[in-house]
Amino acid sequence: MKTLLITGGAGFIGSNFVHHWVKQHPEDRIINLDALTYAGNLENLNGIEPSENYRFVHGNICDADLVNTLFEDEKIDHVVHFAAESHVDRSITAPETFIKTNVHGTFPLLEAARKYWANDTRRRFLHVSTDEVYGSLEAGDPAFTETTAYAPNSPYSASKASSDHLVRAYFHTYDLPVITTNCSNNYGPYQFPEKLIPLVFIHALEGKPLPVYGDGKQIRDWLHVSDHCRGIDAVLQQGQPGETYNIGGCNEWANIDIVHQICTRLDGLHAGEKPKAELITYVTDRPGHDRRYAIDAGKIMHELGWKPEYTFETGIEQTLHWYLDNQGWWERVRDGEYRKFIEQQYKSLAG
Ligand code: NAD
Ligand code: DAU
Repeated sequence: MKTLLITGGAGFIGSNFVHHWVKQHPEDRIINLDALTYAGNLENLNGIEPSENYRFVHGNICDADLVNTLFEDEKIDHVVHFAAESHVDRSITAPETFIKTNVHGTFPLLEAARKYWANDTRRRFLHVSTDEVYGSLEAGDPAFTETTAYAPNSPYSASKASSDHLVRAYFHTYDLPVITTNCSNNYGPYQFPEKLIPLVFIHALEGKPLPVYGDGKQIRDWLHVSDHCRGIDAVLQQGQPGETYNIGGCNEWANIDIVHQICTRLDGLHAGEKPKAELITYVTDRPGHDRRYAIDAGKIMHELGWKPEYTFETGIEQTLHWYLDNQGWWERVRDGEYRKFIEQQYKSLAG
């Protein structure tokens, strides 16, 4: 049995990873450390909580005393570090928390691992990062590989790049067994409805404008979140310390085409109504908007045998049905009810 410290396990990818790990490795113990910011939602973990092998800790990764106590009391074997401020638009309007959480917050985790693991090479510190650290591609440029130079363009991606560098330095300086993954855009269940796919889907359902930034021709490489979780699992179990692994779907789409896809699928479900594409509204572009991301996932595929199970076709279908079937979830997120749920469910967390 191993004990994993998962940070940010109440967020979109973190909660999907908790579900994945409990299912695939039921013998292991999970300590989920999450500050429950606006993006953290304990409803994402329904069904997990009663498990004896699971403990939720409401706390901040910047709190070094708390992090040290967890390492000491729980005898942490591995860290999977998801906790971050993750939304590019928020990083443009309010960058400070991105520096605090993404940069300063990674430091106590690395320090605790260095102190408590005392050069034990069986341990792993898996740092979950993003393709955005590589900057922006032009049409026709080759996809990002693990050796592409960093060129972050937003406060979000710069803060993630900073933490990636810190993680790398702990390997080279202290031999800490770290591994970094750089993944492309995720979509799937439990994604906070401020991100493109859930936002467009919910707006389209409700007949609201579908905001498309700039000319809508920016390109992202989309991966279903459960394939990302499987990739992290493969890296945690088989990856080499000190290495980085790109994870992506070989699945590039222009934003406007994604929006049309969602509209067409919804039209199919609600035949007879006005076409949803009539709701598309071009709005002012995101400042410094990266034009194109694309991931070369050859390394994780060839070295660790990972490949996506979802095609975009099956993944988007599954996701849209999840949002249709879980209307209560996103309505509570949108109107803030989910925070009341947390307060009622976990009275000690209130405030
Ligand atoms: P998210 O915003 O949905 O969730 C972040 C979680 O971290 C939330 O539960 C939040 O409460 C928690 N958190 C935030 N600040 C914290 C702090 N100071 N202490 C403890 N917990 C804190 O994010 P996500 O989309 O699930 O992304 C998870 C990770 O994956 C991030 O590191 C992100 O950079 C990376 N990533 C995301 C994507 C994507 O498409 N969403 C793609 C590649 C990489
Ligand atoms: O590439 C990985 C990154 O993907 C992760 O590191 C980030 O945490 C994650 O949020 C995501 O970042 P993006 O900025 O690419 O995701 P977002 O869903 O915010 O936007 C996707 C694209 O859609 C982007 O080009 C901006 C555009 N967009 C977004 C919104 C919310 C719109 O055109 N309209 C919108 O309303």
